[in-house]
Amino acid sequence: MKVIATVAEMRELRSQLSGSVGLVPTMGYLHQGHLELVRRARRENQTVVVSIFVNSTQFGSGEDFATYPRDPERDLALLEKEGVDVVFMPSAEEMYPEGFSSWVEVEKITEGLEGASRRGHFRGVATVVCKLFNIVQPDEAYFGQKDAQQLVVIKRMVSDLNMNLEVVAVPTVREHDGLAMSSRNTYLSPEERKAALVLWKALNLAQELWQKGEKSGDRIREEMTCLIEREPRARIDYVSIADPDSLEELSEVDHAALVSLAVRVGKTRLIDNMTLG
Ligand code: PAJ
Repeated sequence: MKVIATVAEMRELRSQLSGSVGLVPTMGYLHQGHLELVRRARRENQTVVVSIFVNSTQFGSGEDFATYPRDPERDLALLEKEGVDVVFMPSAEEMYPEGFSSWVEVEKITEGLEGASRRGHFRGVATVVCKLFNIVQPDEAYFGQKDAQQLVVIKRMVSDLNMNLEVVAVPTVREHDGLAMSSRNTYLSPEERKAALVLWKALNLAQELWQKGEKSGDRIREEMTCLIEREPRARIDYVSIADPDSLEELSEVDHAALVSLAVRVGKTRLIDNMTLG
């Protein structure tokens, strides 16, 4: 496994590769969710590149950039075990040298949900992912359904800007009790960890109501909200029932819907989602 820190070295190595290249972009502190993306990429490509870069530009002021968990040595050991070929681990200066001033803005679908709560977040995500695509030039890039809006945004960017690669969506990996795996779960105290299960419970409630024939988006949102509000450690940021492509809120769920939510448990902001239909 090669560990590469500069854009120049990554380009040089890429030029020597033949066959399909799969890229898994990450911010490190890897868990089984990330590794599921890696395994899928391993099955489907000759070469697997994983990037580890905690991207400052997608964190708002007051967010957890400085304290975001980092453990590069452990990450490298895990990736080695998965048979990864290349780890691209650039420094901040390498990705954002002095004078950096070009950004990728995906409009409309970035206005709601995470975009509304985290101003500028998707500008940072789209820009760094675009840069990673240009540097690594993958044939396939792997993203988790866990970050559903991110996936929609990346797919939009790839289509709008004619990027020559395929975006592959990988289902959310969960803990045994249903909590979606996340690097941020490490912030939770044991009590908060129990309370965090309310996200999964609310998603299951939505699924159950919908399966029983409830088609009103408002009713489903209300029921989910009530359930979450009964958990004293949880504070709702948003609960959304939206069209899976446009991400516009739905009043009626007649075919498919993306149910997504962001909830603060103590100081930790958690997100999760499920697709109906
Ligand atoms: P990060 O949060 O490290 O996640 C990297 C990838 O792993 C994303 O595609 C994310 O959706 C996926 N992932 C995280 N938890 C998962 C889970 N429980 N099951 C399945 N997949 C999961 O998302 C980012 O980093 C950044 O925004 C990035 C795309 C790297 C750009 O900086």
